[in-house]
Parts: sequence; structure tokens; C-alpha cells
Amino acid sequence: MRVLVTGGAGFIGSGFVLRASERRPDWQITVLDALTYAAHPASLDPVTDRVDLVKGSVTDPDLVDQLVAEHDVVVHFAAESHNDNSLDEPWPFVDTNVIGTFRVLEAVRRHGTRLHHISTDEVYGDLALDDPSRFTEGTPVNPSSPYSATKASADLLVRAWIRSFAIPATLSSCSNNYGPRQHVEKFIPRQITGILDGVRPKLYGAGTNVRDWIHVDDHNDAVIAILEQGRLGETYLIGADGETSNRDVVALLLDLMGKPADWFDLVNDRPGHDLRYAIDSSKLRAETDWQPRYRDLRAGLAATIDWYREHESWWRDAKVEAERIYSRLGR
Ligand code: NAD
Ligand code: DAU
Repeated sequence: MRVLVTGGAGFIGSGFVLRASERRPDWQITVLDALTYAAHPASLDPVTDRVDLVKGSVTDPDLVDQLVAEHDVVVHFAAESHNDNSLDEPWPFVDTNVIGTFRVLEAVRRHGTRLHHISTDEVYGDLALDDPSRFTEGTPVNPSSPYSATKASADLLVRAWIRSFAIPATLSSCSNNYGPRQHVEKFIPRQITGILDGVRPKLYGAGTNVRDWIHVDDHNDAVIAILEQGRLGETYLIGADGETSNRDVVALLLDLMGKPADWFDLVNDRPGHDLRYAIDSSKLRAETDWQPRYRDLRAGLAATIDWYREHESWWRDAKVEAERIYSRLGR
């Protein structure tokens, strides 16, 4: 099977390429990635001899058409992915996430290629901290940030192309991923690399917001399960019952890294900051054989800390740039 992975030099996309290369060695994988600031092509070093990397944008209709025509399956990860950036400069999010997905859809429609579209739980908005409910596939979309609005827009395009043009596609919306190779602008690697640099963790607002953490390998195993066992036209929510407040995540990191429990600062909140995400992944678990393998957040974080400790050359330049942006944003 020839598989085109858009955004395959980013955090989750590179994890997908590595995991698929291990679990499905017969797949021929091509990565299409614009190599933006968020890309780390070095993440693909272990598979450079067997994976083609094409530098280019999903917004380029001719390139996308040519590559889609040459593959049997497209797994569409490429996106601008960081909420704080979308609040600062929304246009790249509209361009890549909406226009880019439109280009992928049109190419898939022309060539009849199977598509799996990667989305996020953020398209559903947020839940109150004391609300016992969780997101399901039936939850109405209600995005809060420019990032999540562009991801919801892309999802609506995919669903319209399924209904109107019968393209062979599936969608998945996953909760917050953690693990190795995540860009240091994101919450967990920002705090880990900060602590390694002797800088106290920074919690937005009161630090009480809740995210539903899942290990990146569990996300990517679910994507493989949906590709092989999912029903065409369907959306699947991916989550591993990992609800944890930001304060509790920082408490785990401080404990694992030998710092006092009060060694953090509360900083300016993110405008429009979603309170809580929570995923009910019953449908995925009922229709496929997927189960999360990483059920212990503390153990997963310990391994993630080790990875950042051992790969400073991978993250150092990105850290300098990310902290320059955060200092301009006052966070
Ligand atoms: P990331 O920012 O780490 O990586 C994104 C990749 O896409 C980068 O390699 C970047 O160069 C590439 N890219 C950006 N614009 C492009 C363009 N125009 N053309 C081609 N490539 C382009 O993001 P991530 O965290 O790995 O997220 C990947 C996908 O998963 C996104 O669609 C995101 O919405 C979704 N998602 C992320 C999470 C999470 O917790 N990180 C959770 C659920 C869903
Ligand atoms: O839910 C899935 C989404 O998870 C994905 O769609 C996004 O691509 C991904 O970036 C992530 O979005 P979040 O906004 O939840 O992730 P982020 O890592 O930016 O922040 C996680 C939480 O931590 C959030 O409540 C904001 C908070 N935070 C973040 C940073 C960077 C802090 O308290 N301090 C920080 O320094």
C-alpha cells in the first residue's frame, strides 16, 4: 500500500510514520511537509532510507494532485496546530487548515484515493469543570479559538465531500497528545525543557484547566486501526481516559524532576482559554480492536522527560524561538 502522510515531519505525523514503519513494514510511505517552524525532519532519521520526504505545501494544488494520484491512501495530519499562535496571527491557520484540506479533498475526489482526516477534540468547544459529560461523535461543533475554528471548518468540508461526492474517507478527533518529539511551544515539553534550564513552570490563569492526555503512540495506533477497520464516512473520537488538570501535570513533572511542589508561576491566561476537554471513545473501542497501551500518565511523563534530557540538540533552537514569542505575548 502506498501511503501519503501530510505533515509527517511534525510531532504526531512523524510518530505515525515511525510507528507505521514498525508495525506495517510493507507500506510505502511518502511524507508531504512544508517544513514550517514546527517541523523536525530529524524525527524521521530512523526511516530516511525507506520513506520519501517531499518538501511542499498542502495548499499547492498541482503538487497535491500529483502526489495523491500516486498513492492509495492519504493520512492528512498537516496543520498549523498551536492555539497561542492562532490568537496572534490567524491567517496561516485559515490557509493551511482550511484551504489545504480543500486541496486534499479535491485531489482525493479526482483520483478516488482513500483519505483519513486528522482532527481534534477542540472542534467541540469546551466543557465546564464540574460537567460530568464527555464529548461524543454526536456533540455539536462549537470551536473557541481561530485554530479550532479552522479545524472544525476542515471537518465540515470533509463531511460535505463524503456526503456530496462519496469520497472514501474517515475522520478522527483526538485529545491532547504527549510524548517524544513534541514541539517545545506546547505545554508539557515547554515545562520539561524549562525545568531542565532551571526555569519555573508557567501555568496559564489559575492552572485549573483540564486536558484529556493520550500518548502519541496510542493516537497513531488508533489511526492505523481506523484505516484498517473503520467504516467509510464515519468519525471516531480517540481518547485514553487521561483527564488531568494543568496543575496536576505540573505537580507530576516537578516531582519526577526533583523540584518542590510549589516551584511554578501563574501567568497571564490565554484569551478564550477552553476549560476542559474529555473524550468518550466507546465507538472506536466497539468497532475496532484498539485499546490504549499507555495507561499511566506518570510513567509516560517519566519516559518523555528522559527523551528531552537526551535530545537537547533536537529542541534547543526551537526553544529559543518559542520563548522569544512567549515573552512578546507576556506568557
Ligand atoms: P505539529 O505542529 O507538530 O506538526 C504539523 C506539521 O505540519 C509540521 O511538520 C508542519 O511543517 C506541517 N505543515 C504545516 N503547514 C503545512 C502545509 N501548508 N503543508 C504541508 N505541511 C504543513 O502538529 P501536531 O501536534 O503533530 O498535529 C498534527 C495534526 O494532529 C494536526 O492536524 C492537529 O490539528 C492534530 N491534532 C493534534 C493534537 C495534539 O495534541 N498535538 C491532538 C489532536 C489532533
Ligand atoms: O485537544 C487537542 C489539542 O491539544 C490539539 O488540537 C492542539 O493542536 C494541541 O496544541 C493541544 O491544544 P492545547 O491548547 O490544549 O495545548 P497546549 O499544549 O497549548 O496547552 C495545554 C494546556 O496547558 C492548555 O490548558 C494551556 C495550558 N498551558 C500551555 C502552555 C504552553 C499553560 O498553562 N502554560 C503554558 O506554558
